[in-house]
Amino acid sequence: MPHFLSSRPDSRLIPLPWQVPLAEWPADYLVALPRGISRHVVRFVAVGQSIYAAKEVVEELALHEYRMLAELHRLGAPAVEAVAVVTDRIDEAGQPLDPVLITRHLEFSLPYRTLFDRGVRPETVTRLIDALVVLFVRLHLIGFLWGDVSLSNVLFRRDAGEFAAYLVDAETSEIHPSLSDGQREHDLQIAHVNLYGEFLDLEAGGVLDPWLQPQVLADSVVSRYHDLWNELTGMEEFSGSEPFRIENRVRRLNALGFDVAELDIDMDGSKIKIQPKVVEAGYHSRRLMRLTGIDAEENQARRLLNDLDTYRASHGLQHMDESVVGSKWMRNCYQPVLEAVPFELRGKREPVQIYHEVLEHRWYLSERQHREVPLLEAAQAYVHDILEGLPDEKVSALDEPSVELRKLANPFDPSQGYVDDDGPPPFDPWEAAAEDVPAPDFLDINALRAKAQPSE
Ligand SMILES: Nc1ncnc2c1ncn2[C@@H]1O[C@H](COP(=O)(O)OP(=O)(O)O)[C@@H](O)[C@H]1O
Ligand SMILES: [Mg+2]
Repeated sequence: MPHFLSSRPDSRLIPLPWQVPLAEWPADYLVALPRGISRHVVRFVAVGQSIYAAKEVVEELALHEYRMLAELHRLGAPAVEAVAVVTDRIDEAGQPLDPVLITRHLEFSLPYRTLFDRGVRPETVTRLIDALVVLFVRLHLIGFLWGDVSLSNVLFRRDAGEFAAYLVDAETSEIHPSLSDGQREHDLQIAHVNLYGEFLDLEAGGVLDPWLQPQVLADSVVSRYHDLWNELTGMEEFSGSEPFRIENRVRRLNALGFDVAELDIDMDGSKIKIQPKVVEAGYHSRRLMRLTGIDAEENQARRLLNDLDTYRASHGLQHMDESVVGSKWMRNCYQPVLEAVPFELRGKREPVQIYHEVLEHRWYLSERQHREVPLLEAAQAYVHDILEGLPDEKVSALDEPSVELRKLANPFDPSQGYVDDDGPPPFDPWEAAAEDVPAPDFLDINALRAKAQPSE
């Protein structure tokens, strides 16, 4: 009997064919959603309305990754959510099978290959890098050492005009109370090697804009990381006659989407020294959640809050309690816009992202028509002018002939390459490069497998 370890059990997972190796699961159980290349067998499984990602992996790693993801979830970090580990699997012939780690499929997530295959502008690449850097810094702030940073281990979601990055592979990670500079630098070094390899590979595949150079892109991850880290944690010193600079620092952090939980202020004669001790991400998303209950990414939240504040001012509601304004805005702005989207188009974008894009469209229409276009009119125009023509991002992008021009050899596994490939399946330069980096002992997969063999 397979054994389930889970803190949020979904009983519909129990009857799945656990006695069959994941690679051989009948297509009835599977959904072909866009995903990155992987070392392990990874499949998306549909049960009822829910979609899960299943990864077949040796027991120590499955349990380790499950615990790391659960911890990240508890700390509120952006990562896929662990659901269960299925162990003690035995096949029809009585042979043991590797356990399966199950995570909740991250809706509307885009692996970088899907983004690049659709063609991306150089600015988009910069935005993806920014999102990755924010994720990386957020993880380091909570003491999370990633160990295998790469574009294939990140998922992107649209976040207003930017992207938000989520961690997807926590196999090589460790959590510490805090990280030393040396630990962070080591993680950065691995990131640099992996990302350089990935950008080279995109360049070789002809999907990287010729203006962009892999070396420059990989270097920019490191320099942006340092910039953000210093802004968030660095010490600042100024004269005692400029105390307003304390508030400036807090505002700058807020503008970056971070809250200061603890600020060290040291007054020494005529000098003031300040250093943020504890900073937390999600400044705007927390405020939006408090006022409206909407769960949004940071830039989306910033945008919706601006809209909410404008609504408040233009309706003369400045003296009304903020949360009452929040619920009025929900009823009169947010909900009517989303209700204007026909049901069959709702898989194209996440609701919050649709609202943001309607605001953009309204601005564009108002500029062009020299009048203040009402929100609902803009929503209807957006559905017609924009949304109808977009590819579906919730369901399979692989079904979209305009998106995936080449046919995958196995629609459930992009790691196996395309039908018209002559050579061997794709080689992952970043995975190979990552293997050169000394890894902790528990990551010696062959040794683990040997240990896991039943003794004679
Ligand atoms: N919960 C999830 N939601 C969405 N995509 C996922 C999820 N889990 C895995 N994936 C996709 O599967 C790919 C491989 O998963 P990963 O954990 O990196 O496997 P490996 O350890 O073999 O590298 C990822 O790049 C991602 O695109
Ligand atoms: Mg991976």
